[in-house]
Amino acid sequence: MSEAHLLKQALRAVLSGQQRAAADHHRPAWHLAPPVGLMNDPNGFIHFNHRYVLCYQWNPLACAHGAKFWGQWSSEDLVNWRHEPLALAPSEPYESHGCYSGSAVDNQGVMTLLYTGNVKFDDGSRTAWQCLATRDEQGEFHKHGPVLALPEGYTGHVRDPKVWQHDGLWYMVLGAQDQALQGKVLLFRSPDLHQWTSLGEIAGSHLNGLGEFGYMWECPDLFELDGSSVLVVCPQGLAAEEWRWRNTFQSGYFCGSFDYHSHQFRHDEFHELDLGFEFYAPQTCLSADGRRLLIGWMGIPDGDEFFQPTQANGWMHTLTCPRELTLCGNRIFQHPARELQQLRGQLSQFAGSAQTLPALAVDSAELELTVSGACELDFAEELQLAVHSQGVTLRRNNLRTGEPETRDWRGEARTLRVLCDRSSIEVFINDGEAVMSSRYFPAPAPQCHFHGTGQIGLRHWSLRQCVVE
Ligand code: FRU
Repeated sequence: MSEAHLLKQALRAVLSGQQRAAADHHRPAWHLAPPVGLMNDPNGFIHFNHRYVLCYQWNPLACAHGAKFWGQWSSEDLVNWRHEPLALAPSEPYESHGCYSGSAVDNQGVMTLLYTGNVKFDDGSRTAWQCLATRDEQGEFHKHGPVLALPEGYTGHVRDPKVWQHDGLWYMVLGAQDQALQGKVLLFRSPDLHQWTSLGEIAGSHLNGLGEFGYMWECPDLFELDGSSVLVVCPQGLAAEEWRWRNTFQSGYFCGSFDYHSHQFRHDEFHELDLGFEFYAPQTCLSADGRRLLIGWMGIPDGDEFFQPTQANGWMHTLTCPRELTLCGNRIFQHPARELQQLRGQLSQFAGSAQTLPALAVDSAELELTVSGACELDFAEELQLAVHSQGVTLRRNNLRTGEPETRDWRGEARTLRVLCDRSSIEVFINDGEAVMSSRYFPAPAPQCHFHGTGQIGLRHWSLRQCVVE
């Protein structure tokens, strides 16, 4: 379909749907959400010319997955965002079924996107092209077409290029499925972002000492953090166990060391990045002052997403807050980006046994707690956060079945930081040792009630609204 046609369709969808979406009481006050339609992965996250640019997988035409566009926002401070012109629409034959996920780099002052052109055929098969686009001085993106065809030995599931520069050369990791239906991460190198040479598989199912580890790996991101190499990746096909891998698909990381001469990545075991109900496909970038920032999709691609009530108002999903990453041993700690403190309004403080604390507004709020003993935070009778001797448990009723469902972190919770925004909470345990992110859909003006005999010290801030301009 022509680009003009797609853009007209997208504009019509926004014009006719944005008021209804904006009036939804589940719409976040300060998280990023699509104006209309379905959003999934964050893409093209970069600090460029004094601004953060953040694109996103977007179907503006329906609350459904499908031929994705790239929407675009930018921000000076990670808090106040503005809409930017749509970055990519799936208008060309090599991206007929979607401009899929990818990343942005600064190539001598030219912002350059590498993304996947997804093409599906009538027989149900597909192929993928890794494509390049550049942004001009006016902010317009120009597509240069495919720079890499499907590598031999893999199915049509090869996608999500994450590109970075090292010693004057460009490197790219891709998520892939091999012909034996094993998930892999592929590495390529280029002098100019156009000519790519394969350097082989750096991680995957049945590699580096891993056993069977999923049929497809999506959205890889390889970076240095505090002296180690970290591979963030989303393996699909891990069987759920009692305490881990409970969501339909996982999102986590391997910590180790990557050698630019041998192209070997030695790593230890896989750890999930977030133990809540909704988290997937994160992407990182470096801040101006060298912090590694991560933003994820507060969603999971599975059937249950279509039971979320916002669909009736024509929009679906939000991103997580931006998080700063640090490494402690071989574990990633996540902290809400310090810029978010700008959102803080009035502060109230409380202390005492949980059951004596007053109910608190959690429409748009931050809670900082020290905890000793068992207690439960009940968010509007829709989502419960329990701290107990085994760890922390999140509980809610499944939107599809109505049955209770839980997610757990095991360990000793001493502090909690909970960021609340209309229809989501992000729980940071023990200064970022673990995170649990979840959507929930309360009636307007949700409150948190405290139960239990555990002792709590609590600071509560209301967070100001921060609309996208
Ligand atoms: C992850 C993902 C990516 C793909 C994109 C399509 O959520 O499946 O692998 O590029 O979404 O929207």
